[in-house]
Amino acid sequence: MTNDQAKQKIEELTLELQEHNYNYYVLNTSLISDYDFDVMLEELSNLEQQFPQYILPESPTQRVGGEITKKFKAVKHKYPMLSLSNSYSMEEIVDFDNRIKKTIDGEIEYVSELKYDGVAIGLTYINGRLERAVTRGDGIQGDDVTANVKTIRSIPLKLKEGTYPQEFEIRGEIFLSSTAFQKLNDEKAKNGEPLFANPRNAASGTLKMQDSSIVAKRGLDCFLYNLSGDNLSFLTHYESLMQAKQWGFKVPNPEKNYIKKCNNLEDIFHFIDYWNTERNNLDFDIDGVVLKANSFIQQRQLGFTAKSPRWAVAYKFKPQQVSTLLESITYQVGRTGAITPVANLKPVLLAGTVVKRASLHNADQIEKLDVRVGDTVFVEKGGEIIPKILGVDFSKRKDYSLFPTEFIEKCPECNTSLVRKEGEAQHYCPNETGCPPQIKGKIEHFISRKAMNIEGLGAETIEMLYKSGLVNNIADLYELKKEQLLTLERMAEKSVQNILEGLEASNSIPFERVLFALGIRFVGETVAKKLARHFQNMKNLMQATYEQLIAVEEIGEAIANSLLSHFSDKRNLEIISRLKSKGLKFELQEEELIEKTKKLEGLTFVISGVFNKFSRDQLKVLIETNSGKNVGSVSSKTNFLLAGENLGPAKLEKAQKLGVKIINEDEFILMITN
Ligand code: IVH
Repeated sequence: MTNDQAKQKIEELTLELQEHNYNYYVLNTSLISDYDFDVMLEELSNLEQQFPQYILPESPTQRVGGEITKKFKAVKHKYPMLSLSNSYSMEEIVDFDNRIKKTIDGEIEYVSELKYDGVAIGLTYINGRLERAVTRGDGIQGDDVTANVKTIRSIPLKLKEGTYPQEFEIRGEIFLSSTAFQKLNDEKAKNGEPLFANPRNAASGTLKMQDSSIVAKRGLDCFLYNLSGDNLSFLTHYESLMQAKQWGFKVPNPEKNYIKKCNNLEDIFHFIDYWNTERNNLDFDIDGVVLKANSFIQQRQLGFTAKSPRWAVAYKFKPQQVSTLLESITYQVGRTGAITPVANLKPVLLAGTVVKRASLHNADQIEKLDVRVGDTVFVEKGGEIIPKILGVDFSKRKDYSLFPTEFIEKCPECNTSLVRKEGEAQHYCPNETGCPPQIKGKIEHFISRKAMNIEGLGAETIEMLYKSGLVNNIADLYELKKEQLLTLERMAEKSVQNILEGLEASNSIPFERVLFALGIRFVGETVAKKLARHFQNMKNLMQATYEQLIAVEEIGEAIANSLLSHFSDKRNLEIISRLKSKGLKFELQEEELIEKTKKLEGLTFVISGVFNKFSRDQLKVLIETNSGKNVGSVSSKTNFLLAGENLGPAKLEKAQKLGVKIINEDEFILMITN
């Protein structure tokens, strides 16, 4: 294939795939099978590998991400990103309409839309290409999340042919569908990671991830609902959105009644009523309806208050509530022994899902609500996945319900007497090493991604290992033999290999994460990091007194006591010593000992030549640990040329020409020690 042929084919395939992408992700229709799409994508990807010079920025292969953003750049919004004033009743909508009529003579047409419950985003397009994607932030400036937004398939990287303004901003809401959210949380549960409370949190967390290739896999989506620009030719909001659809944007679909022109309050109320129930059948969350004056001229006449436009208002749905029977209260034991009472309810339909359970949090909550088995309780589904018990319908309480609920005194799993420390809300089972859910929970925590990240092991395998008696604590994991693992159900050679390799690889996990993985109560990721940096190794930490512990920044009474109690237990000491003998890291590595500073923040260095006190690699580490940037060649952006003996003449000449400051090793050391 000649270069010209390759270029042309790449262009053709990119355009065709872009069209299929649009049909699939924006219009929810598809003209080709998934298989044919994949074949075409594969062909493009192969060609792009051979002829990378012809890759187009809008190529679907560019959606898989890969760019890492360490810190999102703050960007000022060209048009401030305001919020909407909220209303909660039909009367408030009437007031809104009356207020508008005071300013506007003549007919007013409204547009009713869904209020998407996600994360607001502003997309800037220049010459038809996505230039920038910025979050709302404080409304004046937000974070530049362009790399992550480019992975969202329903957001066009390049607009479809047509006449679009040379520059404009389109705003909308990034969200995660209920299906994608469920899938994400299922995966998290499998890996023993904490779950996202709701799709909005999940979308917002995903949008702020550093690694865009993970973002690409999560399936974010985006509805666009507002067009802004300096010289837009549209007369109405509705028209502008329908035009945006032609350019390739996913805008609310009138055929699905996601958006509707309304000429009177009756139409508006009808729209609100419809979605108040119909929202349960959507595959994404909405938390209300937004009403906007349609005419741009009228919008301009109405203007803005300090916080929100006068031409729009949000109507927020009431959280849905139902009442149902409390059938029983059971108690769950967490990995740290914390006991959580759970209300088991007569299954009831609420906001589109069947609710069977709700958390009662702790003994205080039970007492406050005075909730008793047999009561009829009010349940609400707010923004969280776990429904909340609001209270008891006392009018329905049975006469024979004479006594308040008594909190259990013994652990439901191991029958040990529970303890409740003064000032703490939670009851605990103190039998850390003998209570099954605590044992399994600790192991699950140990292997989880943020801790030791041991691949091949998950909650199911741990259950089997525990049941079979092979593993009773985290140190036992490292004694596992291939033959033993093979005796387990559904355990093939390959999975066994994975587990053993995963365990082996965990030897390289740094001390701070090992410390976190031990699962000491109150020692989360941040605390573990602080402790590791301060004490540098396990021996120092274990010998620390209460006074020494609380002297560490952010370490308080509760953490100090928890550490002292953990290290005073012989069984814990034995586990630590066994893990140590297996080669796990119990001290900071040399490179971690260097304190991070911000002394070189914003400064860019080029290193050239041979040095006396440090190697070039050590210098690089020093630059980075002091927040500076090390690059390979001198440019106008370089601040310093760090010059050793025999430095490259070309580099020197370029630095002199551009006026880049040239420093030697000693001057550099002064910069970071001062
Ligand atoms: S219009 C000038 N339309 O709700 C205000 N906002 O509380 C322009 N939202 O920040 C916003 N769905 O994140 C508009 N159909 C919709 C919306 C919507 C959700 C969000 C948006 C905004 C917040 C206001």
